[in-house]
Amino acid sequence: MCGIVGATTRAHNTTPILLEGLQRLEYRGYDSAGLALLVPAGEGRTRLTRVRATGKVEALHTALGDTPLKGYLGIAHTRWATHGVPAEHNAHPHISDGLALVHNGIIENHDTLRRRLESEGFVFTSDTDTEVIAHLIAWHDRHSPDRITAFRKALQDLKGAYAIALIHEDDPDTLYCARMGSPLVIGVAESGHFVASDPLALLSVTDQFIYLEEGDMASLTPTERQIWRACGNPAILPVQRYEYADHSLDKGEYRHYMLKEIHEQPRAIADTLEGLLGEDRVFTAILGPDAEQALSKVRNIHIVACGTSYHAGLVARYWIEEHAGIPCQVEVASEYRYRRVMTPPDTLLVVISQSGETADTLAALRHANRDNLLGSLALCNVPGSSLTREANWRLLTRAGPEIGVASTKAFTTQLTALLWLTCALIQSRQPGQGGTPVTVDLVHALRSLPQAVADSLTLAPQIETLAARFAETRHALFLGRGAHYPVAMEGALKLKEISYIHAEAYAAGELKHGPLALVDQHMPVISVAPSNSLLDKLKSNLQEVRARGGQLIVFGCEQAGQESGEGIEWLTMPAVDPLIAPIAHTVPLQLLSYEVALVKGTDVDKPRNLAKSVTVE
Ligand code: F6R
Repeated sequence: MCGIVGATTRAHNTTPILLEGLQRLEYRGYDSAGLALLVPAGEGRTRLTRVRATGKVEALHTALGDTPLKGYLGIAHTRWATHGVPAEHNAHPHISDGLALVHNGIIENHDTLRRRLESEGFVFTSDTDTEVIAHLIAWHDRHSPDRITAFRKALQDLKGAYAIALIHEDDPDTLYCARMGSPLVIGVAESGHFVASDPLALLSVTDQFIYLEEGDMASLTPTERQIWRACGNPAILPVQRYEYADHSLDKGEYRHYMLKEIHEQPRAIADTLEGLLGEDRVFTAILGPDAEQALSKVRNIHIVACGTSYHAGLVARYWIEEHAGIPCQVEVASEYRYRRVMTPPDTLLVVISQSGETADTLAALRHANRDNLLGSLALCNVPGSSLTREANWRLLTRAGPEIGVASTKAFTTQLTALLWLTCALIQSRQPGQGGTPVTVDLVHALRSLPQAVADSLTLAPQIETLAARFAETRHALFLGRGAHYPVAMEGALKLKEISYIHAEAYAAGELKHGPLALVDQHMPVISVAPSNSLLDKLKSNLQEVRARGGQLIVFGCEQAGQESGEGIEWLTMPAVDPLIAPIAHTVPLQLLSYEVALVKGTDVDKPRNLAKSVTVE
């Protein structure tokens, strides 16, 4: 999704800061980029200058040419097209009456506003909803006593979501910004003030951030800042150190971020569990005030999320219902937010998100039927994100920044946290300090998890060899049973995202109810076959595929007593505690999608049409 960077500095040329910020935001996905700067124009005056280009940030570098702009105040943007095709005239910043503006989000009433502004004589040069905001502020500027009033009045006219950064040639050191529904942080440093849609963009200049809240607006100079609530009241917000500032953001020895992140999983899981496991119990104080007591009252759970995070929720349903005996419903946020949801008494709403900024998940949290809700718990990888601030309780996964668009370590750390939550729910129902046989087993399994995931990674060389078979593959099926059914769904999603192979996952028992018709010698069927009570049933399903000439690839356990042969490639997984098998079995599917993408020659870290942080609906 779009990315914003802005800077107002004391005697520092902002162009390199803005360009580096944009480069750090590239992972979010975009199709064009631009910046606007106030450049000195002699006799103490400044001139607003804008440069835009379609394609990569590199193209913006090229457009800037050999004489890059110099100035102390500037804004920059990477655009992910929503209104209007990716083209230079649609790229941000948009300008009007001496102001330049960048915007993330969607303005829903842009048509009405556009007509109004056109009738006032404003001329539009783009197809975007963003240009409406630029002209609207310009219009209010003509009719307001000061710029901040004009800005506030314009914001009041907008319906939809926005994060905005704005400069004006009459204010040579002031950077204005506001947010509603899209993330925006203020970076605080000796050298000045900065804004960005993600702290990662600014880590080369500061690790100190202010997280704006919904409706906040701010006016920043290099030395001063003023923040207001939407109603106009001043706000004082804390400056916080960014927790992941020490994490390396380069690829290191790895060819892609995705591969690096797959290999980081043992550490990410260990970090997520740090301080959460006792001898035979889990420590729940981390969840926040009142959570421990609330857990004991939970009689129903609703899990809501999107994409990979939704798959984590689906796995958790098996764990929560099986081990904690609590009814659990899992739904994609884009559906949950728009339907009348029946919430039984004492329901806990669990929202899961890597970024904590996914528009649908945030909306689901905001629109949840509160009547019977005990409260909401955000399970999230980004400290300070909107989701963590708006839920009643929070549980942070400690995966560190995930740059590859295809989620890997975020997923396995989410599963880790959800298994921990299962244990916390069981424990909250047991009076006394000691563990129960189930919690003892779960704590033991959780402890073994980083090593189990490291063991799964040892299959990498075999998977690399296997991937060559997919060179001509256009379709694939994934099969699983029980908690491994959503693991298969996640495997299919990974394959389609980064190798553009059409992949579908089925509960293996559903095969003969339709999908079996697709199976022939050209159809790879990938399955995860852990050692559990469903193994024999799954083996029968696999025979159904084999009998029809399907090409099976199975990541299975030793206990299955199966070997590779005609129509079947059997890769034996290292032995693993069944309680954590869904997490361990996820790893080979991630590696398979990565290796197949290499064979297909796709852009692994930035697959086409996708964005990392989906901050619009
Ligand atoms: C897939 C993927 C997406 C995200 C989804 C939700 O690899 O990354 O499906 O899981 O967009 O994002 P978050 O978890 O940030 O809410």
